[in-house]
Amino acid sequence: MCGIVGYIGKDNAKEILLKGLEKLEYRGYDSAGIALENADGVTVFKEKGRIADLRNIADDSDVDGTLGIGHTRWATHGVPNHENSHPHQSATKRFTLVHNGVIENYEELRDEYLADVKFLSETDTEVIIQLIEHFSNEGLSTEEAFTKVVELLHGSYALALLDEEDSDTIYVAKNKSPLLIGVGEDFNVVASDALAMLQVTNEYKEIHDHEIVIVKRDEVIIKDVDGNVQDRDTYIAEIDASDAEKGVYDHYMLKEIHEQPAVMRRIIQEYQDDQGNLKMDDAIIDDVAKADRIYIIAAGTSYHAGLVGKEFIEKWAGVPTEVHVASEFVYNTPLLSEKPLFIYISQSGETADSRAVLVEMKKRGHKSLTVTNVPGSTLSREADHTLLLHAGPEIAVASTKAYTAQIAVLSILSQIVAERHGKEATIDLLQELAKAANAMEAVVDDAEFMEQIATDYLETTRNAFFIGRTIDYNVSLEGALKLKEISYIQAEGFAGGELKHGTIALIEDNTPVIALATQENVNLSIRGNVKEVAARGAHTCIISMDGLNKAGDTYVIPQINELLTPLVSVVPLQLISYYAALHRGLDVDKPRNLAKSVTVE
Ligand code: M6R
Repeated sequence: MCGIVGYIGKDNAKEILLKGLEKLEYRGYDSAGIALENADGVTVFKEKGRIADLRNIADDSDVDGTLGIGHTRWATHGVPNHENSHPHQSATKRFTLVHNGVIENYEELRDEYLADVKFLSETDTEVIIQLIEHFSNEGLSTEEAFTKVVELLHGSYALALLDEEDSDTIYVAKNKSPLLIGVGEDFNVVASDALAMLQVTNEYKEIHDHEIVIVKRDEVIIKDVDGNVQDRDTYIAEIDASDAEKGVYDHYMLKEIHEQPAVMRRIIQEYQDDQGNLKMDDAIIDDVAKADRIYIIAAGTSYHAGLVGKEFIEKWAGVPTEVHVASEFVYNTPLLSEKPLFIYISQSGETADSRAVLVEMKKRGHKSLTVTNVPGSTLSREADHTLLLHAGPEIAVASTKAYTAQIAVLSILSQIVAERHGKEATIDLLQELAKAANAMEAVVDDAEFMEQIATDYLETTRNAFFIGRTIDYNVSLEGALKLKEISYIQAEGFAGGELKHGTIALIEDNTPVIALATQENVNLSIRGNVKEVAARGAHTCIISMDGLNKAGDTYVIPQINELLTPLVSVVPLQLISYYAALHRGLDVDKPRNLAKSVTVE
């Protein structure tokens, strides 16, 4: 949520900042801004809207600099407008700041220290920058004032500060919000995500919470809370810059849907040993196998993947499993078993709601495993163990390939834990995953047909229902989320048998109902539910599986292992949602009000 970038070096900072922000735009796109520092001082360009709007303004100006900071915003405090956009400046304009996160005590700090200051924005960020100036006016050096203010802040933050009187430094700090330093020859960069820095470097240094980092052209000084300088090695990130490009696709979402078979095959490689057996770090299996109950914690699409994961863990490994929405669990923690193990599922590894649970459960001494796509992300660093998705960067706000990768990795974990518990394998999982990858490929090849379904069912409707039973119900929840978040059609997923208990009242002539029928034991009953809504005028679409299909089904996915069907049955739903949004002329990759990485609670 919000993206930060900073550059200090010898080159044109304007272009590096704008290009960096373009790569961070998925983190928030309500407004954007940059500040450039040169011998004449600091100039701020900022604008409500997208980076493209900011670029138009910045490119029209001759102002340049070799030092600067930038920001793309997902609004928390105050509406998206020019005043609330970052960078923010202190009253005298000596200090300029960008901030990602939420400061919980900003009102208290404002009332205690800044009663006489006139604020220009409604943001918590402006309190930070005015406070820095306040302490600087009291005689502290910029580093001292910055450090003091950071110590006073409660909440989450990633900060980058410029001082007009010092054109050789960017001051940086973080707590709970991601921020990395990129290291180069005669320059250094700072950003919320390595993707923003790949244009200039692939060598990075981590920053830890509460550290103060002084970034200069030729050095990076990291100090801990007591002011002791920390030695920190750099590492080379193995990210292929082209993974973060759209390539031949019109949208990242379409590209990411098409990448799913390849991601599946990569996961098969990564979790397979030389003998072709499933492989995973023993320490992970030891901890998971010791648990008497597993608690899966996640949000949004990752929560939906967790619902499917529960099926694998219970059915294959025989371990009771609960799946919880992170934002609820933290405030309403259920009674826990004696030996719980927590699995945090998060594509980004930064979701604040999930992290809040992790922090609390760590305090209670409970073991944790994060399943994430982002190595080095907060949830990965803070958990005892990590399983990576190997899905490559997911840029579209609507998660697609991360969902199927999460399900695949959870299936592998479940089979390995089942083996550890001495259970006989009932399937050759790697072979079944390979079959699923082929089936996914067959479905993405039918993208044109899914476009036709979107045209036939969703072109003008205001609402839509997705129904299924058992594991199909879990997928119907994901199908509904996909459709609503990018097309703004009000969509809900329901257990087929639950409709008659209330929701069926909403069915009228032509209401689209998309039903999944991939499970043998409920094949007849879900088809019965379809008849019930059809009798009330619904426009029904049945997506079934080869072998269970019946005449008149709208689309039939290839036959695969029944428990693994979510890997494939979700793909038509992703494509139908994509085309429904596209036909409505919407910004598929950046739907309104959303952001890719949700770092506020
Ligand atoms: O990064 P995470 O997987 O933790 O994110 C969780 C949700 O915010 C995310 O899945 C969200 O629901 C997506 N927009 C769904 O497409």
